[in-house]
Amino acid sequence: MFVGDVVGSPGRRALELLLPVLRERHRVDFAVVNGENSAGGLGITEKTAGQIFAAGADAITLGNHVWKHREVYDYLDRDPRIVRPANYPKGNPGRGATVVEGPGGLRLGVVNLSGQLFMGAARSPFSEVDSVLAELRDRATHVLVDFHAEATSEKVAMGWHLAGRVTACVGTHTHVPTADARVLPGGTAYITDVGMTGPHGGVIGANREPAVRGFVTQMPQKLGTSEEDPGLNGVVVEAGEDGRAISIEQLLVPA
Ligand code: FE2
Repeated sequence: MFVGDVVGSPGRRALELLLPVLRERHRVDFAVVNGENSAGGLGITEKTAGQIFAAGADAITLGNHVWKHREVYDYLDRDPRIVRPANYPKGNPGRGATVVEGPGGLRLGVVNLSGQLFMGAARSPFSEVDSVLAELRDRATHVLVDFHAEATSEKVAMGWHLAGRVTACVGTHTHVPTADARVLPGGTAYITDVGMTGPHGGVIGANREPAVRGFVTQMPQKLGTSEEDPGLNGVVVEAGEDGRAISIEQLLVPA
């Protein structure tokens, strides 16, 4: 199971409420959660990461807000269950890929990448993922890639780049779920964007009124995290022992 960007305390509460139930219902072996907006809507802290793990996550992926809270830098180096985009500058805190152990000797490789279109990244996510996969080859039975990117074109291209090479390639960052979940040839589950776990009554997580006023007046606004209409967006991927995906099901669950 993969859960889309957890936004602020409404997102953490929705995750705490729903992840245990959904793990049970779908007999989930691994739950990976994008936590890059879990602390006040931007970034992550050791505390919010701890809450995501306590809710039932096996691994956490991140994105462009990874460096927002300084206190997390040391934690990113210490906890092997959390990954930030692999194609960020070398030498920065944290790691871009990890392997987590599951039931029956299953080992899930978890890779985090950032897009380059309308976003900053040090290196191309396409060549980066090739070298990361070469390094994971003998260490993981299954591989999930979280491609944290803005542009649908770049994400669709990554899906095709990885088709037949990983178990799942899921998109994050826009907070809006797309309706294109499918298994690509070669057994790679794909979706352009999983969506968000948080308040769907705002504007991609922010309070509705100031966000709308910002667009209307084109003046800066103090946004804050919305509390309205919380829910979980995710996907469940079923895969064989050969690491190939059989199905992908979209989850859009109100909290
Ligand atoms: Fe993001």
